[in-house]
Amino acid sequence: MKKTVMLKVNPQTPEIEKVRIAAGFIRTGGLVAFPTETVYGLGADALNARAILTLFEAKKRPLDNPPIVHVCDIKDVHRLAQEIPTTADKLMRIFWPGPLTLIFRRSNIVPDVTVAGLDTIAVRMPRHNVALALISESECPISAPSANLAGKPSPTAARHVLDDLDGRIDAVLDAGPTVIGVESTVLDVTVDPPQVLRPGGTPFEALKEVLDQVELNPAVTAEKPVPAEKVRSPGIKHKHYAPNADVVVVEGELSAVVRKVNELAMYYMKRGSRVGVLCTDETVDCYQADVVKSLGSRSNLASIARNLFAHLREFDLERVDVIVAEGVPLEGLGLAVMNRLRKASGYKIVKASATL
Ligand code: TXA
Ligand code: MG
Repeated sequence: MKKTVMLKVNPQTPEIEKVRIAAGFIRTGGLVAFPTETVYGLGADALNARAILTLFEAKKRPLDNPPIVHVCDIKDVHRLAQEIPTTADKLMRIFWPGPLTLIFRRSNIVPDVTVAGLDTIAVRMPRHNVALALISESECPISAPSANLAGKPSPTAARHVLDDLDGRIDAVLDAGPTVIGVESTVLDVTVDPPQVLRPGGTPFEALKEVLDQVELNPAVTAEKPVPAEKVRSPGIKHKHYAPNADVVVVEGELSAVVRKVNELAMYYMKRGSRVGVLCTDETVDCYQADVVKSLGSRSNLASIARNLFAHLREFDLERVDVIVAEGVPLEGLGLAVMNRLRKASGYKIVKASATL
C-alpha cells in the first residue's frame, strides 16, 4: 500500500503548487485522480507504457479496454491521431473543451498498451480548469479512465475515489463534486456516418444539430447484453456501473411504473431483502421501501444525471440488497442515464404496462 496524497484545490482557479505536485507524479510514471466536468478520472502519462500498466492494475481493469486520452489543446490531437477528418475538426471547435470523446486512427507515437492494441485512439479535452492545468503542467497527454475500481459506479466526488482506490494511487486532486455526473459521449469519427458508441454528457440531439448524419450504435439503447462479436467499443462488453446491491429497472408510462415499483419493492421486502427505491421528485412520496431516494425532477434530466452514481453508491453504504429504479425518458441526458442504469442492472429490465 502506498500513501495516497490528498490535494484540495479550487475548481476554478487551482493552486498551481498543488497542481505541480500532482504533475510531478504523472511525469514520473505515477497515478493521479483528478476532476473533470463529467466524473473523476485516474490519470497516467499516455505515452509511458509502464505507467499505463500500473493504471490498469490499480483499477483492476481488463487490459483489453483502453482508457480515454485527455489533452489540453486541440493541437495535441495532431500528435496522437494519424488523420483528423473534417467532421472531427468541426466537432472539436464546437464541443471542446467538453464531454465529447472522439475516436481517431492512432499515430505511431502511442504505445500499444495505451490503446489496448487497437489501431484507434479515444481523445477528449475536458472542460475543467483543474484537469486542464494538470495536463498542461505534466506536459504529456493523460490517459484517464474513470477513477473507480473496474465494474463499480464512476466517482463523482473525491470521497468515491478514495473509497475504491485509497492506497493504490499516488494522489487525488479534490475540487468538489463534478457537474455533469455521467461520462463523456464517445463518438467514432473513423466511420461514415459518425457513430455514438457510448451516450454521455453531450446529448445525441446536440450532435444531430451540427452533423448532417450521425448514428447511435445499437449497443447504446440495447435492452439485453450485446454479443461480444458485435461490440465496437471495448468497454461495452464488461460489467459496469454496478453497486453491490442487485438493480432492477422499471420502464414505461409513469403511473404504471409507480405501481410496478411498489409491487416489486413489496415482493422483495416480503422475502426478507432490504429494498431501496431510486426515483424522482415527482414520485418520491408514492413509495414504501426501506430506503427511498430521489435523483431530482423529471423536468431536469441534468440533475438526474448528476446524482445517479452518487446515489447508487449511497445505497451500498445503507446496505440495501435490492435497488428498484424508475426509468426516465431516453432523451437528452436521459439516454446516458438509462444506458448506465440498464447496465448496472445487468439488463434486469421490467416493462410496466398501463393495463393491469
Ligand atoms: O467522461 C469520461 O469520458 C471519463 C472522464 C474521466 O474523462 N472517462 C471515462 O473513461 O469514462 P473510461 O476509460 O472509463 O471509458 C472509456 C470508454 C470505454 O467505454 C472504452 O471502451 C471506450 O471509451 N474506448 C476507449 N478507446 C476506444 C477506442 N479506440 N475505440 C472505441 N472505444 C474506445
Ligand atoms: Mg469507466
